[in-house]
Amino acid sequence: MKKSVWFLSMLCALGSLSAEEKVKESSLQEKSSAYTAKDYASLLGMKGFGDELLKMHFQLYQGYVKNTNLLLDTLKTLDPSTYAFTALKRRLGWEMDGMRLHELYFDNLGGKTPIDAKSALYKKLEADFGSFDAWKKDFVATGLTRGIGWVVLYKDPQSGRLINMWINEHDVGHLAGGAPLLVMDVFEHAYITQYGLAKQQYIDAFFQNIRWEEASARFKEKKER
Ligand SMILES: [Fe+2]
Repeated sequence: MKKSVWFLSMLCALGSLSAEEKVKESSLQEKSSAYTAKDYASLLGMKGFGDELLKMHFQLYQGYVKNTNLLLDTLKTLDPSTYAFTALKRRLGWEMDGMRLHELYFDNLGGKTPIDAKSALYKKLEADFGSFDAWKKDFVATGLTRGIGWVVLYKDPQSGRLINMWINEHDVGHLAGGAPLLVMDVFEHAYITQYGLAKQQYIDAFFQNIRWEEASARFKEKKER
């Protein structure tokens, strides 16, 4: 049984869907999708990232895209006054943030050169943290937080301040309105099949492959996303 059908069946079993909504369920699979998974095959071969690990990670990402589309399509069919609607609405942030964070993560990987010490981003990191190394120490320590989630270097749009945030799972801890400049996945699936519990080694590999041009473009807000 497909996951989507299973989930809807579960809601039906809970008595959450009306008869009309059950009829609409049958047409969900045929609806067009709003989001298309990006192809990150160009990242294969990155030093410190095994191809098998990356391919598995790409599949997980594709699942978030699929489920985001499914949720958005399903919500259109539900009566907003039902428990099913609110239950799925609560789930939307988790799936959609899971999709978007993976795109930001893969998009800021694949780099081969260190950050340009003359770049505006580098100078801002120095200004806000005291030095680039101090920022990195903060970012890495945030990544070593016990738990599953993400580290996001955010730019506060009101003050311009840069701050490293711990995101629990996909949806808890984001800076409202903040611009994500650098995103690191620290779910166990991002490293455990290759590094076991040695998360620090994975973080080291991440830093060796950061595409700083992407982070700088996000900082300057010139890149359209
Ligand atoms: Fe992930």
